[in-house]
Amino acid sequence: MSRVKLTREDTKRGSLILVTPAHALTEEGRPKASAPVGTSGVFLERKAAAMLQRLLLRLGSGGRIVPVSGLRSHEEQIRIWEETLEKEGALFTKTYVAKPGHSEHESGLAIDLAKAAETIDFICPEFPRDGICGTFRKLAPRYGFVERYPAGKEDVTGIGAEPWHFRYVGAWHGMAMEREGLILEDYIAFLKESAPPERPYLCPDPESGACAEIFYVDLYRTQEYAFRSGGRGTVSCSGTNEGGIVICRRTSGETEVQKDV
Ligand code: DAL
Ligand code: ZN
Repeated sequence: MSRVKLTREDTKRGSLILVTPAHALTEEGRPKASAPVGTSGVFLERKAAAMLQRLLLRLGSGGRIVPVSGLRSHEEQIRIWEETLEKEGALFTKTYVAKPGHSEHESGLAIDLAKAAETIDFICPEFPRDGICGTFRKLAPRYGFVERYPAGKEDVTGIGAEPWHFRYVGAWHGMAMEREGLILEDYIAFLKESAPPERPYLCPDPESGACAEIFYVDLYRTQEYAFRSGGRGTVSCSGTNEGGIVICRRTSGETEVQKDV
């Protein structure tokens, strides 16, 4: 049995943080540790890199899926923004490049993927819905990766449709978002509205038979939230970067508490 204390600082870090035109990335949201995805030379936040690597190994993709862009420094995002602006103009840039300080790539939680080809576009790589890329899409949520900017949701995300950009949210949240058909903004709003600590959302994992309960804690009005993690189950906590924290408790397996990412 251990006591977990969460503070406002914790609302700013973790795999569920919103990094959008309206939500700037804070220093707390930058990765504490990063790692390369295989031998690609592309880096991600350490846990995200490990999960992507596991997914690619399970797929046996053998180089047919290419990591194009992962973790970017703030300076890199500025350079990409300025170069694209000069080359492609303002409308294209605002559609496909996040403003520096507002890019998920600066958090290390986003990866752009391409189907292997002789030439790969750095800003808009091809990542089709069929073949190996289609199989990747099916398996991705279970490894914590979701398509972040789907067509039809541009008014919510503020970014154009990007079928190549995947966001690491954590495995349970990936499965829950897939199950409910929700993008990150809508998932956080859904938990905030429908999953308070006394009425958690239950998410099954059909592949392992395990289950997790997920709930939202509002730290907007209070200074801290403490709870006891007891009994069986792994607990992970992630901030939302909009004043809340989402707690996910796996209801089977060994007890282990993690502040996510
Ligand atoms: N292409 C995405 C929106 C980024 O630059 O973060
Ligand atoms: Zn991207």
